[in-house]
Amino acid sequence: MDFLPPDIEEYSERFTSNEPPLLTELNRYTHNNVLQPRMLAGHLQGRVIAMMSKMIQPKSVLEIGTYTGYSALCWAEGLVDGGVVHTIEVDDELEPKIRSFIDRSAHTSSIKLHIGYALEVINDLDVKFDIVYIDADKENYSNYFDAVFDKLATGGYIIADNVLWSGKVTQNESEMDHDTKCLFEYAKKIQSDQRVEQVLFPIRDGLLIARKL
Ligand SMILES: C[S@@+](CC[C@H](N)C(=O)[O-])C[C@H]1O[C@@H](n2cnc3c(N)ncnc32)[C@H](O)[C@@H]1O
Repeated sequence: MDFLPPDIEEYSERFTSNEPPLLTELNRYTHNNVLQPRMLAGHLQGRVIAMMSKMIQPKSVLEIGTYTGYSALCWAEGLVDGGVVHTIEVDDELEPKIRSFIDRSAHTSSIKLHIGYALEVINDLDVKFDIVYIDADKENYSNYFDAVFDKLATGGYIIADNVLWSGKVTQNESEMDHDTKCLFEYAKKIQSDQRVEQVLFPIRDGLLIARKL
């Protein structure tokens, strides 16, 4: 669900930079050829990600949940020279699709795709990250936070998508389904963690940004 009324969403997109042409193509390709295209970040959120990346100018980004590669390409736009986006996807059937678009981009050598279970891949990565973007299985958000925390630079960001979960997180706790409860637990966990400061942006399905103090 988008929280903005459609006319406000359209207005916001109208006065936001266009997607780079390759991302427009990837967006269309995903909608025509891949299940659950709603998972792709899309125009407005993609430009938000690219803008955040350009503001932070990260050396290294970890993305959990590649899907067809749209948001990984957005994160790559703000990397410093020699910077790397590590992106993790469990669905190996997506690999050729992801690689075909990365290979046609300006970021071929700066995006490293890891196929596997995120918690296992994270465990094997010996990298200090400036940004971690969590956008995969909701029940593991808290586990991802814990798994990446020591690998995050001081002043680095853990950015979690879908934290509003179409508004379901505002239900009574007793009515929440499993994923909703996990996202609610995640928000409470971040709020009570004295090692971070945080802000919840109600952009698209909600982005919770935690900054390591
Ligand atoms: C919401 S989509 C990611 C969308 C992508 N970030 C974008 O904006 O274009 C979530 C992806 O996470 C993947 N995923 C789910 N569980 C995972 C896990 N345990 N490890 C790695 N990837 C996982 C799914 O296969 C799916 O492609």
